[in-house]
Amino acid sequence: MSDRYLGFANSNLGRRLVDALGLPRPAPLERWQAGRLRPVEGPLILGGGPLANKVEAFAARLTDAPYSFAGDGLQSPAWVAGLGPKPKAVVFDASHLCDSDQLRQLREFFQPLLRSLASSAHVVILGRAPEQIEDPQAIVAQRALEGFSRSLAKELRNGATAQLLYVSHEAQDQLEGALRFFLSPKSAFISGQVLRLEACDAQVQDWTRPLAGRRALVTGAARGIGASIAETLARDGAEVILLDVPPAKKDLDALAERLGGRALALDICASDASTQLLKALPDGIDIVVHNAGITRDKTLANMTPEYWDAVMAVNLKAPQVLTQALYEANALGEDARIVLLASVSGIAGNRGQSNYAASKAGLVGFAQAWAPKLAERGGSINAVAPGFIETHMTASMPMGLREAGRRLSSLGQGGRPQDVAEAVAWLSQPGTGAVNGQVLRICGQALMGA
Ligand SMILES: NC(=O)c1ccc[n+]([C@@H]2O[C@H](COP(=O)([O-])OP(=O)(O)OC[C@H]3O[C@@H](n4cnc5c(N)ncnc54)[C@H](O)[C@@H]3O)[C@@H](O)[C@H]2O)c1
Repeated sequence: MSDRYLGFANSNLGRRLVDALGLPRPAPLERWQAGRLRPVEGPLILGGGPLANKVEAFAARLTDAPYSFAGDGLQSPAWVAGLGPKPKAVVFDASHLCDSDQLRQLREFFQPLLRSLASSAHVVILGRAPEQIEDPQAIVAQRALEGFSRSLAKELRNGATAQLLYVSHEAQDQLEGALRFFLSPKSAFISGQVLRLEACDAQVQDWTRPLAGRRALVTGAARGIGASIAETLARDGAEVILLDVPPAKKDLDALAERLGGRALALDICASDASTQLLKALPDGIDIVVHNAGITRDKTLANMTPEYWDAVMAVNLKAPQVLTQALYEANALGEDARIVLLASVSGIAGNRGQSNYAASKAGLVGFAQAWAPKLAERGGSINAVAPGFIETHMTASMPMGLREAGRRLSSLGQGGRPQDVAEAVAWLSQPGTGAVNGQVLRICGQALMGA
């Protein structure tokens, strides 16, 4: 469903009217277009501590316009506030900040940059995870980065985003993959997020086809977010197997044919679903995206056992049963990547969705519980938590709720299935084993649930 307010507020007449009335004007977000090669099209500003030098070493693969600002020992031309070109991307290494006085470097670095940012600019702050540090003062400084980066994300305008990545010493060689995602329009609808990067031996061989040679299964792939995920994984080089319920077979077949993939009509809750799945995957699978999901909304007082059970069966039980079966049959390849579709509802809670929110929060627990087990085989399992995404599911919401869902976020609009798909594709890359057992919200920094 199209967002008419977004279109109107950015038209010539609408812009004047909305500004005169003091109404919010959400910016049209820049998305990744087919055929684009560079993650950053425009100036990338680097600064801060020693990780900025690491980034500078591969900056030419991110952009053809790297600049340095307030960074020690950087070779790139200096960016000068008020004179330099508008930054499209910014990386500040804050990992060296080791007490609360040094935190003022954040203000000194970002203040001159803020008014110059290009539209849809992407900011990434790098730090060290507090739990991996021994010095109490450094723990304080590094923990402070969370509050700073989330507030910065809320203050940015014109579709800009900001994230904090805690990078362990062993994860420095995985920085390129993370920055290719978070500095590019692939992360257009993600803001105010904090992720941890850990060691990972696997590497992407070809950035134009990072999933080449990988087989991917996507459940609920006939439409909506699942169809977009299948399309994006295929774009990135994966061989895709599309699964959905038998009544969706026609759409599934058509999409599978278009993507050069395979369709599998199967109800993931069927009693023989595991057997059928293993039969359909004789050569195993490298990427599993548990996307199929349903809602059966009622306040708890009116919740029927049927509504409760149906949501739990599809959203929470089936992903566990199928993953267990694939694991026990050794059908998950080396460096397997599993991505679960959770929801911001599962983090913040939502009136009328106690069943759905419980199922989605349960998926977060599932990712946390299985992360160490998969890591033993080079694998990873993470959850993505979409906020308001423009799909069939949200088009059927009452208008008032739909408008609130769109506007109550830092980016002031709903996301697109492509935004979720890009995040899933990134988490599916070989090198993104650096992220394991975590939740990535794709919600434009929804104001709901922190
Ligand atoms: N749309 C949003 O705003 C939003 C927000 C947060 C999370 N999500 C989650 O993202 C996922 C996809 O959402 P969507 O909006 O594209 O939903 P959708 O209803 O458009 O698509 C879901 C797909 O899952 C399939 N499915 C349902 N039950 C199945 C079963 N038993 N076996 C196999 N396939 C089954 C459906 O046939 C459908 O094709 C869901 O898990 C949803 O909970 C969506």
